[in-house]
Amino acid sequence: MKAIQFHRAGGPEVLRYEEVPVPGIGPGEVLVRVHAAGINPPDWYLREGMKVMPAEMRPTLEFPLIPGTDLSGVVEAVAPDVLGFAPGDEVFGMLRFPGFDGRTYAEYVAAPASDLAHKPAGIGHVQAAGAPMALLTAWQYLIDLGHDVPSPFTGQVHQPVPITPGMTVLVNGAAGGVGHFAVQLAKWKGAHVIAVASGRHEQFLRELGADEFVDYTKTRAADVAGGVDVVIDTVGGPDSARLLTVLRRGGTMLPVFFAPYDPQETARRGIAVSNIQVRSNGPQLAEIGRLLDEGKLLVGVDSTYPLAEAGSAHARAARGHIQGKIVLRVTP
Ligand SMILES: NC(=O)c1ccc[n+]([C@@H]2O[C@H](COP(=O)([O-])OP(=O)(O)OC[C@H]3O[C@@H](n4cnc5c(N)ncnc54)[C@H](OP(=O)(O)O)[C@@H]3O)[C@@H](O)[C@H]2O)c1
Repeated sequence: MKAIQFHRAGGPEVLRYEEVPVPGIGPGEVLVRVHAAGINPPDWYLREGMKVMPAEMRPTLEFPLIPGTDLSGVVEAVAPDVLGFAPGDEVFGMLRFPGFDGRTYAEYVAAPASDLAHKPAGIGHVQAAGAPMALLTAWQYLIDLGHDVPSPFTGQVHQPVPITPGMTVLVNGAAGGVGHFAVQLAKWKGAHVIAVASGRHEQFLRELGADEFVDYTKTRAADVAGGVDVVIDTVGGPDSARLLTVLRRGGTMLPVFFAPYDPQETARRGIAVSNIQVRSNGPQLAEIGRLLDEGKLLVGVDSTYPLAEAGSAHARAARGHIQGKIVLRVTP
């Protein structure tokens, strides 16, 4: 089969379209013919050699590596112990995350059945492949209150905040993969949603349900928003603390990316800070799939590229300002 793999860490140019063996399946696994593979930030963190992590936490990588966690495709074969999936079924999922062996940038992948769900019939493979990681992240932060695995980065267990009608939720980085799902899920739960993104995304985000839009290139959210119950910040970085002032006392900050907060300042402001690392979860995807099927959740597609042009897709990602998801088309 053909797959994208890389033999050393580096820029998008290290991604090579090569011939590799079709993987075998072990107990609990399903062989999937991949139709589309979604691109997520961990794919380029891996390609860059995990420079994003502090040196002492960086894993040792064994090359060559096939990147990718997200896929949508059709079941080709199932291990004898797998129940619930059969050849011909359309499936989607995020594989073996946290981890580096999803290997979805390929024509076939051996997938743990527990990481898969049946693809919603109402959406195509491109949309379905765009959903898993970004949507599971938004879901595990905002909706699923049973996420009790400690974050490997902070050691803390998530402190969930049920989103109820009338609450105000501010989403920073609202147009990106996680952000555009967070906007829709908060709205679905009845919240008043403030979306923060660059101006080009205003119409997209209003169509997804944003009640207010802040163009961060012109206006600081902290200057126009206040009394917010929950901030979900997908951007993070050294100056993330500026968003603390929009929260009411008793409010919650949900940093999706690394973001430093001074515990004394958050305690003084009465603000809880809680984060998770997203985890593969097929049953949860099956539950969310119903919302995708009914059109209650939409998958924004920024752009698509053929599998062979994964390097161009990564170069697109590096230019930033992503609106929704970048997806690789694996079958024509
Ligand atoms: N904790 C977890 O388990 C978990 C899971 C998934 C992802 N993540 C992390 O979450 C982050 C976001 O992931 P993603 O897939 O959503 O990324 P993405 O699709 O690349 O989206 C990032 C978005 O942020 C916007 N943005 C950039 N600078 C901004 C700023 N200063 N203010 C507001 N918006 C800004 C970008 O567009 P504009 O600048 O045009 O608005 C873009 O739409 C990544 O760092 C990823 O590693 C963490």
